[in-house]
Amino acid sequence: MIEEKIKKLKKERDAIILAHNYQLPEVQDIADFVGDSLELARIAKEVKEKVIIFCGVHFMAETASILAPDKIVILPDLHAGCPLANSITPEDILNLKEKYKDYAVVSYINTTAEVKAVSDYICTSANAVSVVEKISEDKIIFVPDRNLGYYVSKHTKKEMIIWDGFCPTHQRILPQNILKLKEKHKDAKILVHPECRKEVLDLADKVASTSGIIKHVKEDDHHRYIIGTEAGLLHRLRKEVPNKEFFLASPLAVCANMKKITLEKILWSLEDLAPQVKVPDHIREKALIPIMRMLSL
Ligand code: 13P
Repeated sequence: MIEEKIKKLKKERDAIILAHNYQLPEVQDIADFVGDSLELARIAKEVKEKVIIFCGVHFMAETASILAPDKIVILPDLHAGCPLANSITPEDILNLKEKYKDYAVVSYINTTAEVKAVSDYICTSANAVSVVEKISEDKIIFVPDRNLGYYVSKHTKKEMIIWDGFCPTHQRILPQNILKLKEKHKDAKILVHPECRKEVLDLADKVASTSGIIKHVKEDDHHRYIIGTEAGLLHRLRKEVPNKEFFLASPLAVCANMKKITLEKILWSLEDLAPQVKVPDHIREKALIPIMRMLSL
């Protein structure tokens, strides 16, 4: 069985498998740890093993490489990109800084290492409001997700310039999808990720990161939930909270990039120790600063 081969080779290679909550069910099941972007960044920093097999998208593997420069970081498919991260360049940030001189740049972790290197702070969906609230600056350039930016702006009095980027997967979740499900399951609570469009965020009972949604469901006394995020999260929800019911807000909420990581590719990457993601030192040193600011807040 492929799972057995992966487990055996993982030991021989001194590797750990980290997987994002959006990964395919069988990839989540073989992983040593499954979590959201913040949890995965924290773990990557503390890993003891020599090799990190990162089952996620490119910016996540880059973040692991920035935080754990002595490890071999492998992304089993280098084509697993993130259109949201690719929606802004370092030049765009420098132009914004030039235009808005006394503003701090808060970049979502869904950005390239080069963009992180010209940012002042990094945040994830789990801590975006608290990062913006805790930093000393009152004027913020927030990039690249306009929906997360909107959500943060509703929870702070700080002035915010928000970049117009979005996640195409979350964008496909429409308010009418939620309303239709709500009509059918009147007692269902609406839990959504902050990358969803504004009109969806405004309908939600709770907005949280992927792991935040799982935590909420575990602590809550409701029984049914409409879940507004990528389909992969349903696997953990149904596995870890089997006595509750979950309805995916839209069948279109599937990230093709996250699904590029398969068991076969994990096995090949362990065999070849490739493809590796290594952030060059001159970028890594600069990108580490805003990430560490976030982790120490
Ligand atoms: P979290 O990992 O913070 O829940 O965000 C999910 C996401 O959209 C990653 O691209």
